[in-house]
Amino acid sequence: MLFFILLAWALPTYSLTVLPLISTAISAPPDTITVVPPSRYHLKTCVVGGGHADKEGLYASGFHIGAGINDVTLEGIEVASIGFLNGTYQQFDYGTPFPWGLNMGGADNYAAWEFALVDTGFGSEGFFFNSSGLQWTETEGGFSGWLACDWWHGAPQLFWKYYFYDYPIPSSCVQVNLMPVAVWEGSEATDCMV
Ligand SMILES: *[C@@H]1O[C@H](CO)[C@@H](O)[C@H](O)[C@H]1NC(C)=O
Ligand SMILES: *[C@@H]1O[C@H](CO)[C@@H](O)[C@H](O)[C@H]1NC(C)=O
Repeated sequence: MLFFILLAWALPTYSLTVLPLISTAISAPPDTITVVPPSRYHLKTCVVGGGHADKEGLYASGFHIGAGINDVTLEGIEVASIGFLNGTYQQFDYGTPFPWGLNMGGADNYAAWEFALVDTGFGSEGFFFNSSGLQWTETEGGFSGWLACDWWHGAPQLFWKYYFYDYPIPSSCVQVNLMPVAVWEGSEATDCMV
């Protein structure tokens, strides 16, 4: 294993086809190993650093706020959205003939955290997974993690944190990882890995 890690470090563009679930990053930073998610998955919160048990083990769900627009609430698995990665688009399957994608709002309003939306279309480009779950490579490098906060839909809501404004977060908010949990027929999957 160490050999492969060293190889990945030395040759960042070399494709490690011998490791079934791991390949080197394409658009990700060179010190990051990209993980291939299951073909269809739910996105499950794992609280970073412990605490905030009420934000742990929740699933990303589209909350309709207008025609073709959803906020992302964090709720029980029974309403979890089914996601899949299409290239670098984080898409969702809502059984419609047209696509839905995760759209990273804001970043031009001088705010320290921003909405994550699921809209019609493919959404924002630049998503990938590593062992900390779903990541976003944004051109200016402004993504610095996911926040789960109590907000206005009666369930915790997903936001993303903007690196350049590192203000204190509200006390209901906590940083979470979004781990891909395979959608299996009639069952749910694993515990938090972090
Ligand atoms: C996953 O990627 C993010 C964003 O590039 C990075 O901050 C984090 O350290 C990575 N996690 C691991 C385990 O490499
Ligand atoms: C995946 O993305 C491409 C565009 O990059 C699009 O043409 C294709 O329809 C998408 N697949 C699905 C299942 O939405």
